[in-house]
Amino acid sequence: MTDSFSFTPENQIKAEEILKKYPATHRQSALVPLLDLAQRQLQGWLSQPAIEAIAAFLEIPFLKAFEVASFYSLFHLKPVGKHHVQICGTTPCWLRGSDELRQACTEHLGINLQETTSDQLFTLNEVECLGACIHAPVVQINDTIYENLTPYTLVEILKNLAKEEES
Ligand code: FES
Repeated sequence: MTDSFSFTPENQIKAEEILKKYPATHRQSALVPLLDLAQRQLQGWLSQPAIEAIAAFLEIPFLKAFEVASFYSLFHLKPVGKHHVQICGTTPCWLRGSDELRQACTEHLGINLQETTSDQLFTLNEVECLGACIHAPVVQINDTIYENLTPYTLVEILKNLAKEEES
């Protein structure tokens, strides 16, 4: 369903609550949390109708909302798998083995960066610093940050996530 978007009744209430946190003269300040809410409703990505709906809700131009949605790696403009694997590739993580983590993922999942497995379970991407450099190398999968990883421990995490889907 990508040709229209509206919040579910439950999320509409959440959206109104989010909006209340900002002065009426600064509705646009709610843009990032509302885009995040829409992305969660769409299971991890933002369709153009969703961005249009948020822009209309905030009474701002579509382009302004699109600029924000396309700027932050937090937001995804095409569908992603159920588990979005984001490997930090910034210097501290790179020095501590992010290349090896990426290679382990591509070999285990059989996909390259920016691809999704055919069962739609995993999408693989590389991102900039996830803010946990002291525990490098770091990978974010959906809302969870995994730290001090090795190729082995990361593949074990991927296997466990896949196993959870079977049960
Ligand atoms: S460089 Fe990877 S978390 Fe900061």
